[in-house]
Amino acid sequence: MIKVAPSILSADFAYLADEIKKIEAAGADWVHIDIMDGNFVPNLTFGAPVVTKIRKVTDMFFDCHLMVEHPETYIDDFAKAGADMIVVHAEATKHLHRCLQYIKSKGVKAGVALNPATPLCMVQEVLGDTDMVLLMTVNPGFGGQKFIESVVPKIAELRKMADAKGLSLDIQVDGGINAETSKIVREAGANILVAGSYVYGAKDTAAAIASLKE
Ligand code: DX5
Ligand code: ZN
Repeated sequence: MIKVAPSILSADFAYLADEIKKIEAAGADWVHIDIMDGNFVPNLTFGAPVVTKIRKVTDMFFDCHLMVEHPETYIDDFAKAGADMIVVHAEATKHLHRCLQYIKSKGVKAGVALNPATPLCMVQEVLGDTDMVLLMTVNPGFGGQKFIESVVPKIAELRKMADAKGLSLDIQVDGGINAETSKIVREAGANILVAGSYVYGAKDTAAAIASLKE
């Protein structure tokens, strides 16, 4: 099952509630929420208080992508704010297993993200403990960047690793996803597609979302 998770990083923050309702009406499956700390990535967005506020406007699945150092520090806050999934970067925590267990102890789904340059061996030992692996297809920090093609074999390799372990792992991709690149990543084995500028930049939001699944 292919799911589309538009990233509100590309939304108009002055009208965030409307921007979320717009993707919901257009058939989005999840809301992808990018949290940046200006430290793990060279950009800042917002924290859990904003998630608490937008939680009131929709029942959609909140996929919180934490691009922050020491993500373990913020798990309580995002769980309380209403995150349905919390994704931490393997590069950002020394205790990935503990972090995943802690997220799940809060009744929230747990995911691990890898930067384009980070090898799959970083998640190999926790594949059975994670609900989703996010393979970044750009270097995190900004919307609107170009898809990094060299990540494609990594998607296929991860799908093989999960199949070999008998795991029905969700594989998410994030960065530079549009109607063309979505075909490439789906073919390789990704099933959850994040798209920011492509969805929010489209005149016809519903058609853009549908095009990612075609
Ligand atoms: C990048 C973020 C992405 C971003 C994707 O650091 O994690 O979620 O919004 O934007 P596009 O789809 O424009 O590449
Ligand atoms: Zn993201």
